[in-house]
Amino acid sequence: MRKLIIAIDGPVGSGKSTLARRVAALLGYLYIDTGAMYRSVALKAARCGVSLDAADQLAALAGETRIDLRQLAGATEGTQQVLLDGEDVTALIRTPEVAQAASKVALVPGVRKVLVAEQRRAGERGGVVMEGRDIGSVVFPEAQLKIFLTASPEIRADRRWREHQQKGDAIDLARTLEEIHERDRRDRERTNSPLVKAKDAVVVDSTAMEPEEVARLVVMLAKEHASANTSETLRHNR
Ligand code: DC
Repeated sequence: MRKLIIAIDGPVGSGKSTLARRVAALLGYLYIDTGAMYRSVALKAARCGVSLDAADQLAALAGETRIDLRQLAGATEGTQQVLLDGEDVTALIRTPEVAQAASKVALVPGVRKVLVAEQRRAGERGGVVMEGRDIGSVVFPEAQLKIFLTASPEIRADRRWREHQQKGDAIDLARTLEEIHERDRRDRERTNSPLVKAKDAVVVDSTAMEPEEVARLVVMLAKEHASANTSETLRHNR
């Protein structure tokens, strides 16, 4: 069966990472979390003292940064290790501060240009599940399967809050909801590659669905697409 590019886009807390990771594991595909790349640039900017308003400096910084996304096997299967210039920053990029900074860094066209080029290189051979905000609309408009995952803001805030609680971070639910609204606004309203549903994306509302249910649905769609694409190719080759 042909190896697809599966694009998963959606707002913060919609369950994209859980879904993308699970689908990649079920299909034996590579999982790529593009948000981690924006987060890594944001972390580096903070460390280097580059202002989040300095677009040119941020773009230059992105250009001279090496971000490696490594797939971990074994017990940690499906998780992705993030290396920023060789340093493991997997946990460091998951703070609310880095999340806010990443959504500002993501506003800069020069940063997006650098990261989108890397994302295309990483996924062009197919057999990949890539999650982000603009994967189906900008990075891989030709992706064979595009999912736009949504959930109500309250559910998304609750999920994010639980994640932080589990890690032992003291974080306020009302503040989490405010931050979600803030990031949603920034992601949707930016002029460059805003969060939009690609025309041909399948909308999945995960508000009342179990993560495994959503994953099985997407795997089913992927298998349908892969076999449809295979018979297309066979027909063309005849
Ligand atoms: O998915 P995330 O929360 O890790 O993403 C961090 C920020 O990066 C988010 O506010 C929006 C931005 N982002 C983006 O603009 N485009 C992507 N493809 C992925 C993330």
